[in-house]
Amino acid sequence: MTLILGIESSCDESACAVVRDGVEVLSNAVASQIARHAAHGGVVPELAAREHLSAFPRVLDEALEKAQVKLSDIDGIAVTQGPGLIPALLVGINFAKGLALRHRKPLYGVNHFAGHVYGAFLEGDRSRMLEDAAAYPMLALVVSGGHSSLLLLHSDGHARHLGFTIDDAAGEALDKAAKLLHLGYPGGPVMQKTAVNGDCKRFNFPRPLTGAAGKALSEENRYNFSFSGIKTALLYTIEKLQQSADEAIEGQLLADLAASFQEAVVDVLVRKALKAIKDFQVKTLVTAGGVACNARLRERLQAEVPKNVQLLLAPPAYCTDNAAMIGGLGYYHYLADNGRGDGFGFDAFARLPEITAIRFAGQKYPVEG
Ligand code: KG4
Ligand code: ZN
Repeated sequence: MTLILGIESSCDESACAVVRDGVEVLSNAVASQIARHAAHGGVVPELAAREHLSAFPRVLDEALEKAQVKLSDIDGIAVTQGPGLIPALLVGINFAKGLALRHRKPLYGVNHFAGHVYGAFLEGDRSRMLEDAAAYPMLALVVSGGHSSLLLLHSDGHARHLGFTIDDAAGEALDKAAKLLHLGYPGGPVMQKTAVNGDCKRFNFPRPLTGAAGKALSEENRYNFSFSGIKTALLYTIEKLQQSADEAIEGQLLADLAASFQEAVVDVLVRKALKAIKDFQVKTLVTAGGVACNARLRERLQAEVPKNVQLLLAPPAYCTDNAAMIGGLGYYHYLADNGRGDGFGFDAFARLPEITAIRFAGQKYPVEG
């Protein structure tokens, strides 16, 4: 039995979790700073760092208590190394380094993006699929505040990024739209709530890079995303509505705007995922990241993904930032080097490096990733 303590601080969640053998989540403590950042309409990195600093001792205690373990019982510590906000990441990394030094535990720097993908396998016996060659190739749709990506995973552990966003991420677009509509922060959940009774066909917002509206789609953008044009279209629509001034932007009109915007974002995600499924004979679609909580996205994928393709939607608790996905992925780092650890010299990184392999895919001790 291997117990890994996961630590996460890439954005505005301070999180600690204890995970047994990469799959069993014994605790998953998350302290959200949303209320602290809401007044600024988005995350302020230095403020996030200060909040992490004060939250971590308490969040760690909560995670250990819930899991009913002591630090001495832990076999290894895995901490988010990046991508994310550097000031925020540094607090988690230094906290983890301090714990690892004091308690003589191996320490691992873990990729947050790969952690999101792994989050989809953290429930029941889902992780067994990882060793089933028939489940590959897998396609991971990772959609969060920082990412909109399609990643292809092969049974030998190799991976290839098919596409990224060329401007805003899906969650970022929802956050910005919510700001334009004065709905507050974070935008995704409140847009979903506002959209519930809205007519998603009332406003026909663009579907960028899908080849819709007769626009030619270049080869390089086939699996890329772009969301900033939808946001600009929303801005123009709001301005036009305000000029005509017959109707205040509230009630049904507000619901229709939110529903139409959400539909445009979801539609692009679904179309691109379905295209990649077809082009690469994908056997499993994994959907992860904060935006994977979105009810409309989940509903459309359930309805439209072909029945011969397994659909793995990350459980909501492991969609938004959490440390269970970091502790779960950390287990594979621990297995790969027999618990030696990465040492204490590693630093935070802000941007997503090219991903060519996924540690947990396919085999027990795969290539670097
Ligand atoms: O994965 P996450 O917690 O952090 C990043 O790594 O970015 O994702 C946060 C993003 C935010 O943009 C938030 O608005 C979005 O996920 N989000 C949602 C929902 N819940 C969170 N977007 C759409 N629908 C939701 N229900
Ligand atoms: Zn994240």
